[in-house]
Amino acid sequence: MPQKIRLLFVCLGNICRSPMAEFVMKQLVAEKGLTDKFEIASAATEKYNELCHEGLDYRAADILRQMNVPFTPHFSHYLRPGDYAKFDYILAMDDNNMGDILAIFGGDKDHKVHRLLDFTDHPRSIRDPWYTGNFDEAYWDIYEGCQAFLGSISNGHI
Ligand code: 4NP
Repeated sequence: MPQKIRLLFVCLGNICRSPMAEFVMKQLVAEKGLTDKFEIASAATEKYNELCHEGLDYRAADILRQMNVPFTPHFSHYLRPGDYAKFDYILAMDDNNMGDILAIFGGDKDHKVHRLLDFTDHPRSIRDPWYTGNFDEAYWDIYEGCQAFLGSISNGHI
């Protein structure tokens, strides 16, 4: 792998699912000794939480602690059109994110935008725990998606 693989996880608020995915993926690549081979970040499709300087939701932090996933201070960051060139894979949590991401980027000419769980055997959206309150479900969906994505990369499928 000559260059870093640059991953950007995207959800609506960037305080629940996409930062959880960022930290889960950082842990998985660290366990494989591949930290230096990846750049991993996350972003929101709406500006509200960045404007309010919102941090990681306490329920997302709780589940990461429970699962022994290390995390660092995080604040919501809004997805900007210039991010398209800065990342190789832009990984959405759900269908609404896909639509919003394509609108912000004005398309996806290089086929960088995917739903995270489309790399699994059961393609689907990750339900938003901000609304469902089910952070356990979101964690396991994210874990499954990150494992499947890494499997696809190492098998040369993407
Ligand atoms: P996320 O969840 O997209 O998984 O970060 C949400 C967080 C905040 C809001 C909506 C969803 N919100 O409306 O502030």
